[in-house]
Amino acid sequence: MRIGLLTGGGDCPGLNAALRAVVQRGVKQLGHEFLGFCDGWRGVESDLTRVLDLAAVQGILPEGGTILGSSRTNPLRGGRDASAVADRLRAFGLDALIAIGGEDTLGIATQVATTGFPVVGIPKTIDNDLRGTDASLGFDTAINIGMEAMDRLHTTGRSHGRLLILEVMGRHAGWLALDVGLAGGADAILIPEKPFDIDEVCAHVERSFAAQHAPIVVVAEGALPVGQEMPWQSTTQDDFGHPRILGIGTWLERELEARLSRETRATVLGHIQRGGAPSAFDRVLATRYGLHAVQAVSEGRAGVMVALHGRDIDEVPLSEATESLWTVSPERLREAEVFFG
Ligand code: F6P
Repeated sequence: MRIGLLTGGGDCPGLNAALRAVVQRGVKQLGHEFLGFCDGWRGVESDLTRVLDLAAVQGILPEGGTILGSSRTNPLRGGRDASAVADRLRAFGLDALIAIGGEDTLGIATQVATTGFPVVGIPKTIDNDLRGTDASLGFDTAINIGMEAMDRLHTTGRSHGRLLILEVMGRHAGWLALDVGLAGGADAILIPEKPFDIDEVCAHVERSFAAQHAPIVVVAEGALPVGQEMPWQSTTQDDFGHPRILGIGTWLERELEARLSRETRATVLGHIQRGGAPSAFDRVLATRYGLHAVQAVSEGRAGVMVALHGRDIDEVPLSEATESLWTVSPERLREAEVFFG
């Protein structure tokens, strides 16, 4: 078979490991050939391709980012037709496509698959907000990066007796903030799923100081005070209608410093969370996802996304994975209640 591969949306560690696994198994054991599209769906639209043979994927397992490049191009913008995208894929001589992406990239994959062109998805996003899988590629590495930042913040916060704030990504899902907060020992964790009361956050912080502890508040970029509309976002939007989310960490820094009269410093972790080498967990997950995805294509399964359930990799319909965002459940919120300021 001749199979297309693309990586779309925000990059993350583990994409290259997944590409390598697909190509290694596909070429060595299944007799396939692969065409990579550069910059996600933009490559399909604009004819940006590169051959992915064994040499192309040599040595890329530990490399962050994606050798194919990525973008937030939406090939269906302005009401364009998914069957036209499928026709373009056929015009490249492809029998199937493996798309590695998050809600947007796999949302397009879902629509292309409904036209009858065989597509298999691999879930990736540091936001971990794709349904149907226990983990998306890149999430574990991002938690580890956040955790390391927390360990460092604790030592400087303690030395100066300051209140520190760590803003992490995650868009409209609090998974990353929750797990960074739990792994890094946050005193309060603020996530989009539970609007926070600033007075309660202040009380929470004061309790930590009273216990001789310099507190750290982890805040998700999409977290909001009770009753507040999202003021921290750009006026421009990407192809999928997402504005950039900006500024909750520095707003919180000013607000808490003014209310508590305590020295407060905010750190915005930003794209550091998406860079660098994947964790061992993500390398293994990426490799297993890649091996399963190419197997699924070979066996004629389509319109599915490979998924982690417990320790096993299986498949779920793409439509199920992309129908709505997966956000932090009430159970997970209740479990960590003590940390929600
Ligand atoms: O979806 C991944 C993500 O890193 C979000 O957490 C964040 O809001 C967004 O992408 C940032 O996008 P960009 O890299 O386009 O600024």
